Amino acid sequence: MSKHISTGCLPGFEAAFVRVADVCRPLDFGDVFGRSGPLHLDLGAGDGGFAAGFAGAHPSFNVLAVERLLGRARKIAKKAWRQGLGNLRVLRLESGYLMRYLIPPSSVSVIHLMHPDPWPKRRHWKHRLVRDEFAAACLRALEPGGEIRLTIDHPGYLKDIVACFDRQPSLQAFRWLPGAGYPKSDFEVGFAGQGKVVFRQGWRKI
Ligand SMILES: C[S@@+](CC[C@H](N)C(=O)[O-])C[C@H]1O[C@@H](n2cnc3c(N)ncnc32)[C@H](O)[C@@H]1O
Repeated sequence: MSKHISTGCLPGFEAAFVRVADVCRPLDFGDVFGRSGPLHLDLGAGDGGFAAGFAGAHPSFNVLAVERLLGRARKIAKKAWRQGLGNLRVLRLESGYLMRYLIPPSSVSVIHLMHPDPWPKRRHWKHRLVRDEFAAACLRALEPGGEIRLTIDHPGYLKDIVACFDRQPSLQAFRWLPGAGYPKSDFEVGFAGQGKVVFRQGWRKI
């Protein structure tokens, strides 16, 4: 049986969960997914509407949805199970820890950041995910040509995130817009009719 994921002995949706055997050792994604393939991370995946839709639209991609809340992680795992998505796995973990310690260097094709929590009050900014250390970890994790794709509705946090990624020496900003096979996230679906402006930006590792 795989070191990271149990598929044979766990009932139903539980099989979509990644079991981290050693929190000090980078994950082996060939082992996690049982195959090789372009690795896509959805960090702070919420209820997994985007991750499931994206995995379904791109069966050759390996999609890892990362979510710290157990209830939401379970919803994602249930989507993977019910929709028969063998290329979607769920990791219940803090994304910053994952990026810093568990992702092998140059292993990720795309990091999807969809509406990261903005923590609007200044005294709470320390809880924000995207800071310089996180940006450096993303750069390390990406393969050459790999991308970060950001979708966000909070202008203040957008400005700070842009500054963090722009400070990284080998990340080049580009205008990114979602094409076909890029479903809306649960938050975006919830915005319908609210007149919210959604910003998008991409960075590529050069
Ligand atoms: C604003 S919601 C957006 C959810 C989803 N990306 C979407 O667009 O519908 C942010 C999600 O990220 C999760 N989250 C926030 N910080 C996180 C972290 N450091 N690690 C993992 N998950 C995190 C929250 O629990 C929440 O589900």
